[in-house]
Amino acid sequence: MPGKTFYLETFGCQMNAHDSEKVVGTLMAQGYSQVETPAEAHLVLYNTCSIRDKAEQKVFNRLQNFKREAGKGKVFGVLGCVAQQEGEKIFERAPHVSLVAGSASYTRLGEMLVQLEAGNRHVTGLSLDTDETFDTPFTRRDNPHRAYITIIEGCDKSCAYCVVPFTRGPERSRTAESVMTEARRLAEQGYTEIQLLGQNVNSYRDPSPAGWDFAALLARVAEVSGIRRVRYTTSHPRDFVRSIVDAMDSNPVICDHVHLPVQSGSSKVLAAMDRLYTRDDYMRRIEWIRNAKRPYSLTTDIIVGFPGETEEDFGQTLRLLDEVQYDSLFSFKYSPRPNTAALEMGDKIPEEEKQRRLVIVQEKQRAIQIRRNAESIGVVREVLVEGRHQALGQWIGRTSDNRTLNFTHPDSGGGSLVGTYLPVRVTRAGPNSLVGESVTVV
Ligand code: 5AD
Ligand code: SF4
Repeated sequence: MPGKTFYLETFGCQMNAHDSEKVVGTLMAQGYSQVETPAEAHLVLYNTCSIRDKAEQKVFNRLQNFKREAGKGKVFGVLGCVAQQEGEKIFERAPHVSLVAGSASYTRLGEMLVQLEAGNRHVTGLSLDTDETFDTPFTRRDNPHRAYITIIEGCDKSCAYCVVPFTRGPERSRTAESVMTEARRLAEQGYTEIQLLGQNVNSYRDPSPAGWDFAALLARVAEVSGIRRVRYTTSHPRDFVRSIVDAMDSNPVICDHVHLPVQSGSSKVLAAMDRLYTRDDYMRRIEWIRNAKRPYSLTTDIIVGFPGETEEDFGQTLRLLDEVQYDSLFSFKYSPRPNTAALEMGDKIPEEEKQRRLVIVQEKQRAIQIRRNAESIGVVREVLVEGRHQALGQWIGRTSDNRTLNFTHPDSGGGSLVGTYLPVRVTRAGPNSLVGESVTVV
């Protein structure tokens, strides 16, 4: 392949974002250089998401735009969840694609690149039969202060709506030793925030004889010298055990935030979804968090319009939002996915009804957030500075409890504050963010 340049666009979750960092590092280690536009690239890669139909369509739209480029020396590759889900069908649907590889095959990426360079037009990495995780020393990180560490890949749950077990393969945990080595190395390189990643971090289990569970790993990562913040995502309520809250309580380096996706407030719908917990089980976990030693912000994911969700079931979700008073949430209309159990379920909810329920959830949550965010007015919070809003003359900060807190700083005419930790007094609050001014503490 002449020039060896590549362009990579990433869709989907943080797992995908971090996979892309590893893919970029691997490509660079093989002599490729990254370019900013597909037009300049010899190799055009899309790291894709298939969690909902809309996400899946994005990659096909992108590929459609480049149909005429085929045969002009450009090579196209589809990586990630759509690649795994659709497999070789992608070659039929988009004949100009030469590489189709799911995340469980990235350990073979180097080899696949060699095949592409040799002119092979149909290179695949689609096996899910793996017990390996994709650990690489070549990760090219996008952010100089906050770093992702994958601790567990794949998923062994079988939520009736979810495509992930089919796209990311079986659950496999990385050794604690390898995680700790990466955490220490990141601290030495100057990173101060670590985000532990996995489809279900709560079911982490060190495969080596030490056998640490997630709470033990979380506690140890938070003790790494130089690390000021540790976050984790994402949790499954069934595996969210009390010792995780104890680990959080015992070390404020672990951020004041729990993302605990509930999906529905109705035990009947939760059973149909095969979520393995009831509304009461979930609320017990909320109580542990609410009764903890310090306040934690709580966020969740909601799916509306799952097959069979009645008005009464939906009402229970709304009552759950009232009870829990989440700090933020992501809400989605149920989207039927290939291979999943829900695909065969009767009693589908019409699109307009899903949309109506989605709007109701979002409006209710907006009111809750306005109220909750207003509680911060007058309070001084520490932020990690993440960027700058040039037009507004504000710095962009993030609090430990995962709120965006934009603020003004009197002496910021000169150098950049990005990457520093500062105390900021909250002066205003909106539904999605806070505004404040930096303060000098004596
Ligand atoms: N339809 C709608 N939302 C979904 N999610 C997962 N699968 C689906 C689907 N088929 C949502 C869940 C999950 C979040 C990442 O995406 O709420 O927690
Ligand atoms: Fe999308 Fe799920 Fe794959 Fe992440 S794991 S990219 S959310 S389908």
